[in-house]
Amino acid sequence: MQVIKRKKEINSIVKKLRKDGKKIGLVPTMGFLHEGHISLIEKSKKQCDITVISIFVNPVQFGPDEDFARYPRDFERDRMLAAEKGVDIIFYPEPSEMYAENHLSYVKVEKMEKVMCGKFRPGHFRGVCTVVLKLFNIISPDKAFFGMKDFQQLAILKKMVSDLDIDVQVVECETIREPDGLALSSRNVYLKPEERKNANVLYRAINIAENEIKKGNSITASKNKAVKMLKDCAFVKKIDYFDIRDPEDLKTVKKPDSKKPKILIASAIWFGKTRLIDNKVIEV
Ligand code: PAF
Repeated sequence: MQVIKRKKEINSIVKKLRKDGKKIGLVPTMGFLHEGHISLIEKSKKQCDITVISIFVNPVQFGPDEDFARYPRDFERDRMLAAEKGVDIIFYPEPSEMYAENHLSYVKVEKMEKVMCGKFRPGHFRGVCTVVLKLFNIISPDKAFFGMKDFQQLAILKKMVSDLDIDVQVVECETIREPDGLALSSRNVYLKPEERKNANVLYRAINIAENEIKKGNSITASKNKAVKMLKDCAFVKKIDYFDIRDPEDLKTVKKPDSKKPKILIASAIWFGKTRLIDNKVIEV
């Protein structure tokens, strides 16, 4: 396994591999790898000849009051895990390698970046789209693997790829959960033991909304029942949103529509000082 820190170097290695007919899979990450990332790596290994993972805590997608400085990092552990899982190349650039001092260009997917998490994290998706497009340009993967846990990120990146005619196939991968339902996230390490025990309330609330909608109850009543469950949990400090939306364009769904049977239930809450997000796409 190679660890490459320079854009030019990885670009020329990958160009040669592609010339030799190899299919390249990219798993973009911010490191601190967990089973969710491992499942993306495994998928890439099944579908591609070469698996590249990027490990880069992208400063541009964090707001000034967010957790960029304390975001968990452990490159040695990541390196060992990646080697064990058969990753071929780790791209591990410094921020200065990715963003020159005079960097001025950013990518925005309008409208979709303003709702849900985007409403509470202004500029976040502009940062995500910019770094992911840069990774696509540097590495030219055939396929890129993203988890459905960050559903809004996935929907926005798919739109960017389609709108900007980017020659990469975005592969959506199932959310990996702890046995109690909590979606895996690098940020789960922030949870105190008592918070961790209760953190699956988010997934339980999403499941309540799903059941209510499937029983034929209105979207508003279903959402209210789920929100009440969250409000009744003493560890939930704030609900940023609990939304029912169209999984493609992220527009609010007011009533189930048989022409569009898929519905996204998504939420973000503050559990003490930790922001948790989760979602489920259901079919009605
Ligand atoms: O999902 C993440 O870890 C990040 O947002 C990504 C896609 C690696 C971009 O920095």
